[in-house]
Amino acid sequence: MNENKGYELDLHWFPGHMTKAQRMIESNLKLVDAVCEILDARIPYSSRNPDVDKLCGNKPRLIVFNRTDLADPAVTAQWRKYWKNAGLVVMETDAKSGKGVNAFSNAVRTLLKDKIAAYAAKGQENRPLRLMVLGIPNVGKSTFINKVARRKAAVASDRPGVTRGKQWITVDAGLELLDTPGILWPRFDSQTVGENLAFTGAIRDEIMDRETLAANLFLRLREHYAESIERRYKFAPTPEMSGMEILEIAAKKRGFLLPGGVYDTERMACVLLDEFRGGVLGRISLERPEAEA
Ligand code: G4P
Repeated sequence: MNENKGYELDLHWFPGHMTKAQRMIESNLKLVDAVCEILDARIPYSSRNPDVDKLCGNKPRLIVFNRTDLADPAVTAQWRKYWKNAGLVVMETDAKSGKGVNAFSNAVRTLLKDKIAAYAAKGQENRPLRLMVLGIPNVGKSTFINKVARRKAAVASDRPGVTRGKQWITVDAGLELLDTPGILWPRFDSQTVGENLAFTGAIRDEIMDRETLAANLFLRLREHYAESIERRYKFAPTPEMSGMEILEIAAKKRGFLLPGGVYDTERMACVLLDEFRGGVLGRISLERPEAEA
């Protein structure tokens, strides 16, 4: 795969869907005071839409690190510091369990303190603050909205942009959220980004065959999380092993044997990807701020 060319992924987004999503987001932006951008804490760079800065212009932005339950807490702390130093308001959530979502209301008020003061100066103290949630598919937008709004019903929708007929849901007095999230397209600009999105399940596995994907994940895990491999698969990968060799040893350790004495690396690849995505290997982050800076 050519690093500069990037992946030809999920063509579903190109070109019509992407343009439509962009238009829908732009028209909805006019209705909100701020945007809440949801990222996957394990891959904050790769899960960030490349055009979001341009798309949102000067609209104040709250960054939500979601899936912190699956991310390495030490790395998440580094990201928090990094973003805060860049002047952004960030919060951390595990939208699935709801951990961290209670901080939303205060984070929005911190973000919009100047706007709140400006509304008050115009005698509009009761004017509600309105936000929309944005993020790439599967990052947890619907789960986040439901948790913040304390709703049970899911509004999951894979349609790009935002559906017609605006519905505002009340988070608390004076704070409202557009009930359908804006779905952004992921960045597809390098092999590493494509892999990160595939490892975490943000895009379909089919960007490359599953064994290659899993072999590459093993190589990435070996960099910072070799002990997780050792704990789970009962061997320590050495620096000179290739990803395929690591995959094969893991298959052997698991006893995944095919007729003819060949190890079932395809099965092991599925197990590794499932276990990584499910957090069975521990809390793992694939991107660090110093590497992305
Ligand atoms: P989207 O609207 O951005 O497309 O994403 P959605 O909320 O539908 O979430 C996608 C999947 O991610 C869901 O899992 C959801 O439960 C899970 N999820 C969302 N936030 C978090 C989080 O902070 N931590 C973890 N561990 N998972 C999260 P699913 O398997 O598709 O559905 P479900 O069976 O969990 O309901």
